[in-house]
Amino acid sequence: MAKEKKGGFSGQFGFVIAAAGSAVGVGNIWRFPYLAARDGGGLFLIIYLILVVTFGFTLLTSDIAIGRKTQKSSIYAYAQMRPKWKFLGVITFLVPVLIMTYYAVIGGWITKYIVVYLIGDGAAAAGDGYFTAFITSKVSPVVFGLIFMLVTAFIVYNGVEKGIERCSRFMMPILFVMIIIIAIYALTLSHTGADGVTRTGLEGFAYYLKPDLSGVTPSRFFSILLDAMGQLFFSLSVSMGIMITYGSYVKKDVDLNQSVTQIEIFDTLVAFLAGMMIIPSIYVFSGLDGMNAGPSLIFISLPKVFTAMGKIGPVIAVLFFVMAAFAALTSCVSVLEAITANCMEITHKPRKKVTLVLTVIYCVMTAIVALGYSIFYFEIKLPNGVTGQLLDIMDYVSNNLLMPIISLLSTILIGWIVGPKWVADEMEYGGKKFRRKRMYYVMIRFVCPIMMFILSLQSTGLLAKIFGWN
Ligand code: PFF
Repeated sequence: MAKEKKGGFSGQFGFVIAAAGSAVGVGNIWRFPYLAARDGGGLFLIIYLILVVTFGFTLLTSDIAIGRKTQKSSIYAYAQMRPKWKFLGVITFLVPVLIMTYYAVIGGWITKYIVVYLIGDGAAAAGDGYFTAFITSKVSPVVFGLIFMLVTAFIVYNGVEKGIERCSRFMMPILFVMIIIIAIYALTLSHTGADGVTRTGLEGFAYYLKPDLSGVTPSRFFSILLDAMGQLFFSLSVSMGIMITYGSYVKKDVDLNQSVTQIEIFDTLVAFLAGMMIIPSIYVFSGLDGMNAGPSLIFISLPKVFTAMGKIGPVIAVLFFVMAAFAALTSCVSVLEAITANCMEITHKPRKKVTLVLTVIYCVMTAIVALGYSIFYFEIKLPNGVTGQLLDIMDYVSNNLLMPIISLLSTILIGWIVGPKWVADEMEYGGKKFRRKRMYYVMIRFVCPIMMFILSLQSTGLLAKIFGWN
């Protein structure tokens, strides 16, 4: 019944492509490469891969199975599992509610750069201070943020199959082809710098793949592990109710086991390709120092690289930013959808009405957060050591603070209260084979709760206090 009212994905492919659309976002394209560059290249890759097939698999399986079994979004899904645990659904609901305040702002920044390169202003974008001047201005970030927000809302307004699935079917294959083209192009690069040294894309690629063990102490290893784990959550869109909502739209005959594997592979492949495209490019034109750019990587370092590429630079830049915009849009859609679906269940109002109200609310929020670098600028020191302003605070509360706590509580709920069989039954529904069942049981009951506990301590800054790290 509920499903008929809500609509659903057309089938396995529709679901997988939409879930991959949610998973592949700015996290893959921007965050993954800079973490890999910072955290020892191949070492980070190996750790990340191991985490994907263990933790990522466990959390993704849980979310999707909860969604399909209960046919509900987070609040009512957890309430249905155990009425006393409705609070967990409410906390989970808060994550997309918070993420949505800033995701369209970042989408707006990306859109702005598409326009900049289309109108031939790329050289200016490579100039020092361009990005800062842009985000601290009072009109442009708001306008672009609102455009991105409205496109997102339009897609969600059109429903699950006609809006979300359709846009993912269109955008994800294009994104994939584009990222492969740019990654291969990055490998062919070669440039002689002012220091007379010639660097090639292949050397940069080797740097990306080779595990760099220098300076890896136990505490450093541990912090890489936690970085990789935090990235994994964000990247797979787990523990924020999104995959619960998407799971609730999946038909009963779809094989969830295959779907989970396909989503894991797709998300990881795109992250890997993003690194393969960005790390060699930066290496060729800026050397290893360029890798320390951190979050400003795609808006500050890459424009410099595009300029250094010469004539083809603006073309690659447009390809890159369009691809990033597709990635961000399909993710932003999933965030808004998770909020919409919960609100529809709470209010019993139709999708269109709920979307319209949410659109108004989030246009206001997007504008406020977009002005967080100018009119509403203030900064505070966050418990994880980062000095943040409005956008960083929203990001910190949703990703660093809430997500590990939600995962911790949900693994306890599934592992010890409802029992992992509850999930296993859904994975095996219709005679399907739950291949990694044994591992799932061990992970959900023992490994995940312990690691999530440690991750929560780390993100609140308590871990550093306990061990005296700074
Ligand atoms: N998984 C997306 C990414 O890697 O960028 C980001 C994301 C989507 C985060 C949806 C949060 C979210 F609710």
